[in-house]
This record gives sequence, structure tokens and C-alpha cells, in this order.
Amino acid sequence: MEFKDSVTRQNLARAFAAECQDGAKYQFIAKDAKQNQLNYISTILKMLAKNEMAHAKMFYQHMIDNLPQSSNGNVNIEAGFPFKQSEIASSLFTAAEIEQSEAENIYPAFAKIAKDEGFADIAKTFLQVAEVEKVHSQKLSFLAERYKKKSLYKCQSAIEFECSNCGYRETKKDAWKTCPLCQYPQGYVIIDFPQDWR
Ligand SMILES: [Fe+2]
Ligand SMILES: [Fe+2]
Repeated sequence: MEFKDSVTRQNLARAFAAECQDGAKYQFIAKDAKQNQLNYISTILKMLAKNEMAHAKMFYQHMIDNLPQSSNGNVNIEAGFPFKQSEIASSLFTAAEIEQSEAENIYPAFAKIAKDEGFADIAKTFLQVAEVEKVHSQKLSFLAERYKKKSLYKCQSAIEFECSNCGYRETKKDAWKTCPLCQYPQGYVIIDFPQDWR
């Protein structure tokens, strides 16, 4: 199968667009979180956005590597681009759902097509990215649920909380409202994903 006639070429363009879209949205959420004093959530979302840009670059590179020299590089695609206004909790839930469908449906399907069309290396990237998106989905839904229940900084039993600004640590059930050492607000407390969060 020639790359220019393949469905994989279309799918790479779709995946590239999806990753750019996810990355942009996570930066929006990061900004929102920061404005709401949720600094550590903002840090996590910025990290996820960075991951998405790295994925976008991988798909972009596969496209460049496979396009014939003579091609002008343009790919026309049809794909869904959902726009909706939402606050932090629902943005996180929506993001978790999108990640889950990329992980479980979209990228595995793209990988199968790529394999069938003879593009084993592209298939491998789709599967490897799907694994990462699965973890993204789990992290986002963990944050969304805890945020909604107002239990980001509450635990059943005492755990060691740490301030991401000054490194102050203390073992307790509820994190401090204001860091006893640097006076930074609760939003700077590091959110650990517990062992059983999956
Ligand atoms: Fe991604
Ligand atoms: Fe992701």
C-alpha cells in the first residue's frame, strides 16, 4: 500500500489534530486552575499538555517521514472537534473521557489499520501512545472525582503532605490551609496519586 493512498495517512492527520486539541485544552484548564489557586493541579495539567505536544510531534514526524518529496503535504480530514464551555470539574471529566476513548478505541483501531496497511512502525506508535493516554485518563478522572467531592486534600488515614513551593512536609489527614513554613495556600500541596487510584 502506498502511503499517499492509505487510511493511515488520514489517521495520522486526525491523531495529530487530536493531540494538538488535547494539549491546547489542558493549557486552558491549567490556566483556569491557577486562577482558582489550584497551583498543583495547574502543574499536572501543564505536564499532560506537554505529553500531548510530544505525541503530536511523533505523528507529525511519521507523516513527514512517509510523504513523497513531490507532495505538498496537505491532508484533508473530517473529524470531530467538540467545543464546550465548562468549569474545572467538568473539563477534567470530559478530558478523562476523551483520553479513555483514544486509549481504548481510537488508537488501537488506527494501529490495526496501520498494521494491515503495512506500516508497522506507525502501528507501534499508536499503541504506545494509547498506553500513555490510558494513564492520562486515570489521572484526570482521579482529579475530577476528588475535586468534585472536595476531597483533594482530605484522606481517610494520615498521609504525608508536601508543599510544592517550599518542600514542607507533615503527616496528617487534612492538608493545611496555608503552609506553616512558606504561607503558600493549600493549592500548592502536592497531589499524590495513591497506589489504589487506578
Ligand atoms: Fe496524547
Ligand atoms: Fe493524553
